[in-house]
Amino acid sequence: RGSGDAAPAATGCPFHPGVDPSGRPISANAAAFDPFHETFQEDPAGSLRWSRDGEPVFYSPRLGYWVVTRYEDVKAVFRDNITFSPSIALEKVTPVCDEATAVLERYGYAMRRTLVNEDEPVHMRRRRALMEPFTPAQLAHHEPLVRRLVREHVDRIIDTGKADLVEEMLYDVPLTVALHFLGVPEDDMAMLRKYSVAHVVNTWGRPTQEEQVAVAESVGRFWRFAGEVLDRMRQDPSGPGWMPYAIRLQPQMPDVITDSYLHSIMMAGIVAAHETTANAAANAIRLLLENRPVWEEICADQRLIPNAVEECLRHSGSVKAWRRIATTDTKIGDVEIPKGAKLLIVTSSANHDERRFDGPDEVDVRRENAGDHLTFGYGAHQCMGKNLARMELQIILQELTTRLPHMELVPGQRFSYLPNISFRGPEHLWVQWDPARNPERTNPEILRRRLPVQIGSARRPLPRSVTVLAIEPEAEGIVRITLADAHGKPLPAWSPGAHVDLELGGLTRQYSLCGDPDDRSTYQIAVLKDPDSRGGSRYVHERLAVGDVLLMRGPRNNFPLDPGARRYVFIAGGIGITPIITMADRARRRGADYHIHYCGRSAAAMAFLGRLRRDHGDRLTLYRSAEGTRLDIARLLAEPQEGTQIYVCGPQRMLDAVAEATRHWPDDAVRVESFVSALDRFDPAKNHAFDVRLADSGRVIRVPADQTVLGALRAAGIDVLSDCEEGLCGTCEVPVAEGEVDHRDMVLTKAERAQHSSMMTCCSRARGGSITLRL
Ligand code: HEM
Ligand code: FES
Repeated sequence: RGSGDAAPAATGCPFHPGVDPSGRPISANAAAFDPFHETFQEDPAGSLRWSRDGEPVFYSPRLGYWVVTRYEDVKAVFRDNITFSPSIALEKVTPVCDEATAVLERYGYAMRRTLVNEDEPVHMRRRRALMEPFTPAQLAHHEPLVRRLVREHVDRIIDTGKADLVEEMLYDVPLTVALHFLGVPEDDMAMLRKYSVAHVVNTWGRPTQEEQVAVAESVGRFWRFAGEVLDRMRQDPSGPGWMPYAIRLQPQMPDVITDSYLHSIMMAGIVAAHETTANAAANAIRLLLENRPVWEEICADQRLIPNAVEECLRHSGSVKAWRRIATTDTKIGDVEIPKGAKLLIVTSSANHDERRFDGPDEVDVRRENAGDHLTFGYGAHQCMGKNLARMELQIILQELTTRLPHMELVPGQRFSYLPNISFRGPEHLWVQWDPARNPERTNPEILRRRLPVQIGSARRPLPRSVTVLAIEPEAEGIVRITLADAHGKPLPAWSPGAHVDLELGGLTRQYSLCGDPDDRSTYQIAVLKDPDSRGGSRYVHERLAVGDVLLMRGPRNNFPLDPGARRYVFIAGGIGITPIITMADRARRRGADYHIHYCGRSAAAMAFLGRLRRDHGDRLTLYRSAEGTRLDIARLLAEPQEGTQIYVCGPQRMLDAVAEATRHWPDDAVRVESFVSALDRFDPAKNHAFDVRLADSGRVIRVPADQTVLGALRAAGIDVLSDCEEGLCGTCEVPVAEGEVDHRDMVLTKAERAQHSSMMTCCSRARGGSITLRL
């Protein structure tokens, strides 16, 4: 279903229809973009590839919104909820006709602020107050219910051989779980389903005038129903669930948890919790069955499921876009955004941005950064229910891969979607199987199996096994190693600058890939024999043999080549040539302007000289210290050049010299390989070490200048939750018993900071020499 011919909600500038509100011409692609059209419903990421490639922020005259499609831009908008307010998140995208308004008024419909569309400072106070039921410890109580529900639903279809999974299970299970989580009685599920479809159409869809009136009736009844349930709950709010919890909190914070809020969240919460999860499950199963080898890989090793869930949410998420409004004149990338501009930030497109995800259209359940997807949003408003959703998705996949590993999609079916700008999931998902082959008929034992569920944020995916195909000398003290998938499968896509983690005799070491990204059957790395080796390079040089099988994670790219530069300067020192050579190859293939400066001791000790000379000829300058030719970094980089980017990989003194020489260059001109996570990437020179005392156990944990409190607690085996790890979301808060905090988060209010009674452990530190936490 699509509604490409519906009347546009808004046009560009009314006086100059061919230009956007900033006066820039609207491109043909931008003018044609229709978020209600089938192509966007079916494949939101694919339908916006043109935008990611060439026009990442554009004005859509049909929608009256600015559309943002690249990963970094979408994340930046989510991150700054002050400049980009979420207040329009639940606004009706299609203006309501008078008749429908009258219907809504008759029901006293007054859906206003919930959490998702509330501004600061109220939002964060409310979010923190209501967080408790979402913590992993609390969520664990829901696991038996989810398991039982999924099993009962599979029981009902297991002998039939054919089912519409949406109808038979994927809708009911998340709805029942959602009601249970909210503490709402499970009566009238069919009615609730009708209501929530109406709410989606009403808020995010493009109903015709006739449909609007019918939808308004359902929305009005939904509103009344939510109010009645709330009234009943108020009479006895002692029961379990998020809503009674909120009601019990109300007397303590009446200005934060208002009556209007409770009524709105009751209605919005039902949709937020189940529609999203039902769609996510249907998308995931469809995606995995369409990629049969991946489905079979999961059936063979169910430990892959937690990361498979992340990969499915990335590849085929159930929220395809979300909304924000600019509160001031601002910029996204280099596009001017006027105050009041409405933004459609397309998470599905961001999740397929090749600048962030290598081979983004492929499904790789071992993908290292699958969990970086933006399907749950990001920052202060990031989905609070994400771990409940993850739990449900894991259990659904566990049960189906155990009991119906032989199921397949009914061939030839066409998938239909409810046309709307935000949610995405097929309305029906037909699968079939031969019941005679059901594993439980021959092995009833499998029904007793209870697989563990990973609650909380995603952990690292499982490694894959690779075989060492060849070990060849590359230069003095350097070997080149060729690796292939141990099961003969193609290896994942990667881009220049990517590295893999290899487990070598109990150690994990990172190596940049230096072969040809188009060769999916092998990877190449080069390893220098380091006299100061703590084991990794020694192991490679002394023990590794052809035919060995190693565990490998990745690839991951912390050092991507920005295709937008006018000119590239590549600087490599010694073995630092490994990521640089692949970047230079890519620059050459693109016909870009570039030059390689490669420093080493002597020609004999420098890897890849033959390949570099052959492929890069006069774009290569070599510096050999043994022969007295040295690179004068300060001279080379004396003049900042507009549009030039510098990529450097080499020893620390080389990185320092480049940093020193480019102080007067634009901030993002220099790109450096970084193997550390963002968590560790703050400047130790600006921090001091201190002690954290734990009030409950009396333990004292030292936090060095280059580590966060969160990192130090975790290293000491103490679990603290975290999400954004940038001081935005409030997840890592812990109570402080004593000591002054150097607050660096965006979560606490001024008054709360002054009290020093809690801190965000991902970013804030002690002001003095120690601090005591209530842990
Ligand atoms: C917010 C997606 C499941 C409760 C959000 C947002 C998105 C989202 C995109 C807005 C994020 C932002 O503005 O940065 C999803 C998806 C789900 C899911 C894809 C399933 C796969 C759930 C469940 C619950 C839930 C199961 C409740 C049990 C919430 C709440 C917020 C929210 C309360 C508002 C948070 C805030 O504004 O502080 N979700 N959600 N969600 N979600 Fe979910
Ligand atoms: Fe988000 Fe610390 S504030 S993890």
